[in-house]
Amino acid sequence: MSEIQIRLIVKDKIKEALNFIWHNPEQFLNLYSKYPDLFLGCYLDDILVGTCYGCPFSEEIPKEKDKIILKHISVLPEHRRKGYATKLIQLFEEQAKKRKFYNITLSSADEISDSFYLKNKYFPTKYMIRGEKEKMPENYKKLYNLSDERIVGNMLFLYVNCDRCVPSLKEKFRNLFHVDDVKFIFEKKI
Ligand SMILES: CC(C)(COP(=O)(O)OP(=O)(O)OC[C@H]1O[C@@H](n2cnc3c(N)ncnc32)[C@H](O)[C@@H]1OP(=O)(O)O)[C@@H](O)C(=O)NCCC(=O)NCCS
Repeated sequence: MSEIQIRLIVKDKIKEALNFIWHNPEQFLNLYSKYPDLFLGCYLDDILVGTCYGCPFSEEIPKEKDKIILKHISVLPEHRRKGYATKLIQLFEEQAKKRKFYNITLSSADEISDSFYLKNKYFPTKYMIRGEKEKMPENYKKLYNLSDERIVGNMLFLYVNCDRCVPSLKEKFRNLFHVDDVKFIFEKKI
């Protein structure tokens, strides 16, 4: 019988977890050095088959002092739909609470992820619309009722409040703001 274990990733195994991360390995390793208790692995017979990690949200947005951001969660394709990511996110929530954070935020990659987060009682709070500032229409501020905006380098992030997932609105925002990237932000009070 195979044994499944969800546990912290120890320092000498952290490079293994890089295989699960498809962008910014330097940031991943830098965050691990600061928050190793928020880096979790799912091990099947001691082989890493899934990972999950995060950090205080203030690492990205300094005024957001009360939230933890779940930056990534994934399970190898051949091991999906067995409840492993659910186990990972449950331990992640416990680890966040140990740091006295009671609110988790994240941006969801796609509709499968949306279903996963909804099943785990995360709620959509915003659409996040991301694109290069110079490619957006000049009058972008007037095109929709935006709740917030933020600039990182040459990228502009626009936010629209919501309380449920309406996938067709994503398409509307892509066309309206001339961007490819529209995602839901989910949150959970733990
Ligand atoms: C999203 C992901 C992490 C889910 O991992 P998983 O181990 O398969 O998830 P679980 O088995 O714990 O699924 C829990 C629930 O999520 C939902 N869910 C998961 N995969 C789903 C799918 N393909 N379609 C619809 N719902 C799905 C279901 O409600 C499922 O419960 P059920 O199996 O009882 O119906 C996995 O699909 C993945 O690694 N995707 C690629 C990476 C990624 O996009 N990560 C998210 C970044 S925001």
